[in-house]
Amino acid sequence: MSSVSLLVLPILLLCACSAFAASEVDWWEAATLYQIYPRSFMDSDGDGVGDLNGITSRLAFLKEIGVTATWLSPIYDSPMADMGYDISNFTKIYPVFGTMEDFDAMVAKAHELGLKIILDFVPNHSSDECEWFQKSIKREDGYDDFYIWDDGKIDAETGKRVPPSNWNSVFGGPAWTWNEQRQQYYFHQFLSKQPDFNFTSPMVRRHLIEVLTFWLERGVDAFRIDAVPHFYELRLANGTYPDEPVSGLTNDTTKHDYYTHIYTKDQPENIELLYEWREFLDEFQRQHGGDTLAMVAEAYAPIEVLSDYINNGTHVGSQLPMNFNFIQLRDTATAKDVERLANHWMDVMWTRHKTANWVIGNHDNSRPATRIGEKRADMMTIVTHALPGTSVTYYGDEIGMPDLATECTPTNCDFRDPERTPMQWDSTKNAGFSAGNSTWLPVNPNYKLLNVQRQRGVARSTLQIFKSMSALKKTPAFRAFKEEGGFSYGALTEQVFQIVRTAPNLEEYRVLANFGGQVERLDDLTNKTMEYVIVTSHSPHRVGAKVDLSKRIYLMPYETVVLRWAA
Ligand code: BGC
Ligand code: MG
Repeated sequence: MSSVSLLVLPILLLCACSAFAASEVDWWEAATLYQIYPRSFMDSDGDGVGDLNGITSRLAFLKEIGVTATWLSPIYDSPMADMGYDISNFTKIYPVFGTMEDFDAMVAKAHELGLKIILDFVPNHSSDECEWFQKSIKREDGYDDFYIWDDGKIDAETGKRVPPSNWNSVFGGPAWTWNEQRQQYYFHQFLSKQPDFNFTSPMVRRHLIEVLTFWLERGVDAFRIDAVPHFYELRLANGTYPDEPVSGLTNDTTKHDYYTHIYTKDQPENIELLYEWREFLDEFQRQHGGDTLAMVAEAYAPIEVLSDYINNGTHVGSQLPMNFNFIQLRDTATAKDVERLANHWMDVMWTRHKTANWVIGNHDNSRPATRIGEKRADMMTIVTHALPGTSVTYYGDEIGMPDLATECTPTNCDFRDPERTPMQWDSTKNAGFSAGNSTWLPVNPNYKLLNVQRQRGVARSTLQIFKSMSALKKTPAFRAFKEEGGFSYGALTEQVFQIVRTAPNLEEYRVLANFGGQVERLDDLTNKTMEYVIVTSHSPHRVGAKVDLSKRIYLMPYETVVLRWAA
């Protein structure tokens, strides 16, 4: 969309009279979502690891900053080979995180505050320590084909047994691991301690529905579905697994990228599972009442595939396939890059489904302050909240926490840890995260200056900007996004990104963000005189000051402002 489409006043006048109710926007459609990494959010008992009671004690903070719903990375019992994404018991709380009573108390408190709880549902695999896998090893009744087992092949030259196919795991190395006891290989998309479920087994699917039911009955409001592209793998009619072709992307044969994943990713059956679960969730809601039980889907997949997750014309699935486009933004990003990545989503998802969401960070990727740059952290907070749809913020990004490269020992650190350091609450011991003598990952030493408490008192802090934006998101101009002319966005120059949001009563907000390190000149943006309502620390302007946009204006390096105009 270009800035030209801003000149739509006549259309806007028309839609001002059309019936519009902001309440027609369902809770997940224009929400402020917030991801908690439970290990790192708040430790209530001094063992240096975050826990559920810690989360409960900080829910008021989520309320304070305008969060709609929070999704928790896995909280279930686990040997923690993949930090909880290796579940040994899907309906038990990891003891270090607390008890089921603690969980119930957390949900009760959240609901009392009007916050929703989204749990991470990890249906692709379990831990190898899960009872189901142990039963499968022993071929116990019904569990024989609960996971993906195979004898492998005999190498004609060496006479040795080799894995069934050349498939590599996401984390590197073969995706097949030999099990001595059962004398077969099992398949795992991720670590060898994360055997993949066999979704062709009706019993697997039943068990997973039971898991969903268990948590819904405890009051959970939505699920984030983990690793959707990895559900199914191709098994030929003759029972073999075809080799994948070499991609040419790397020479390292152990890397996941060494092959092109035509048989182990984005198989059409994956989507069927989403439809199945959606049907189940809708039915649960019909029976029990309450708000829409939303499904957030984690998938690094092509946009056309994501579109089918939502609705393929005959079935509905996940309401919110996560939009990871902005995860690609680096410190070289320009306004044009943001426009291109926004269009990439909107051209398909907005056009077909009138839905958008904007993930700016998560536990698997470098934090925005590091990845896109500290000078642009506030800008990205403003942009992701001002675009139509739902924003998704990873804990700590609301105060601009950067990555912390930690020293790795074989047992404590994997390559994704720099963005998982403890939340920085205040300038007391361990940043107020834990009263213990040590913390599971070191607290970033910058915490004395960079913390929630301190930013509460600073007018243009990252936290205040986050709060102002989440508050704006609840106003008519930001909720009228399904209306014709309700929004527009685009790069005005290589470096300046603009977003315009318009309420049915024509109240207008305009974001101007200078991604570059140079002063930018803008001429004759509109005939309106607007008021500064939010300004970042790079702006020379005051909140409340006016600016005549029919005249030439300048944006300082990295300056980002939100302007308002009312009829
Ligand atoms: C999660 C990762 C996890 C993987 C395996 C994901 O996509 O976000 O953190 O390692 O699934 O469960
Ligand atoms: Mg603890």
